[in-house]
Formats: sequence, structure tokens, C-alpha cells
Amino acid sequence: MTPAALAQTHAAAFTQTRPWSETEFADLLEQRGMILCGDAKSFILGRVIGDEAELLTVATHPAHQRQGRAQAQLIEFLGQARTQGAATVFLEVSENNDAAKSLYYKEGFHNVGHRPRYYETTNGGRVGADVLRLKF
Ligand SMILES: CC(C)(COP(=O)(O)OP(=O)(O)OC[C@H]1O[C@@H](n2cnc3c(N)ncnc32)[C@H](O)[C@@H]1OP(=O)(O)O)[C@@H](O)C(=O)NCCC(=O)NCCS
Repeated sequence: MTPAALAQTHAAAFTQTRPWSETEFADLLEQRGMILCGDAKSFILGRVIGDEAELLTVATHPAHQRQGRAQAQLIEFLGQARTQGAATVFLEVSENNDAAKSLYYKEGFHNVGHRPRYYETTNGGRVGADVLRLKF
């Protein structure tokens, strides 16, 4: 998957908060410990540092949602993170993103914190993030 393909899917999926650019994806993919699962229809990007994994983003193109793709990518990501030595996985999710939170809770994540006004919204506002953690 190219950074351009990732940015395209991200832009189609993220309508409430700012999508990431091709340059941002290219920079991230050069960092150590990155894990990229999926394809241009649905992907997860995260990384492992020491015994902690961080799920950075997940996106399924709107034309392919509700077909189990994100859940499959999440299971794949968690397996790879564990294999690479992660004992815990963290992520941040917009406090009003019920679809994503439902996905994460299903795979065993729990709320452990909150960051007020964390994300920039597409209409110029701010929205808080819930911090979720999964322990293997
Ligand atoms: C969240 C997102 C990644 C889910 O992708 P998806 O491929 O459609 O998800 P799946 O089909 O694997 O769904 C897995 C579970 O997630 C939950 N879920 C997914 N979409 C949902 C929706 N629109 N409403 C409620 N729950 C939803 C459900 O629990 C679902 O299981 P079910 O279909 O058995 O009920 C997708 O909606 C998306 O790209 N959204 C925009 C980007 C985003 O918000 N990313 C997360 C930011 S941290």
C-alpha cells in the first residue's frame, strides 16, 4: 500500500476529524516498529515500542464498511503486536465515535483515560478523546 492509497482511504472514511495526508503517512511508515495491516479498502496502522503497542489509526472505505474488515485487521494487528513483544496496546478514539469504540470493546479494550479537546474537527472545533487499553 502506498502512502497515497492510505491517504485516499483515510480521507474517504474520516468525515468528522481531519484525515491524514500522504506526507504524514509516508513519514510514519519510515519510523521503526510500524505495523500496517490490510489493503486500500480497510487498514490499520500502529507501532510497537518496547512492550507497548499503539494503534495509530484504522479506516475502512465507506463503500466497504460493515463487512467485518476492520475487525479482521484489528485481530491481525493485535496478533502481530503480541508476536513483536507488546504486553499492552493503547489507542485514542474520538469520544463520540461509537462505531469505532464498539469495534475496540469487542476485541477487549477498556477505557483508561480521557483527553479533553484532543482532536481537531472538520468544522474547526475540538472534540475529546477516550484513551483505551488492552492487556494481553
Ligand atoms: C470504525 C470503522 C473503522 C469500522 O470499519 P468496518 O470495516 O466497517 O467495521 P467492521 O465491519 O469490522 O465492524 C466491526 C464492529 O465494529 C462496530 N461497528 C462498525 N461500524 C459501526 C457502525 N456504523 N455503527 C455501530 N457499530 C459499528 C460493530 O460492533 C461491528 O460489529 P458488527 O458488524 O458485528 O455489529 C469505520 O466505520 C471507519 O473507517 N470509520 C471512520 C474512521 C474512524 O472512525 N476510525 C476510527 C478512528 S480511531
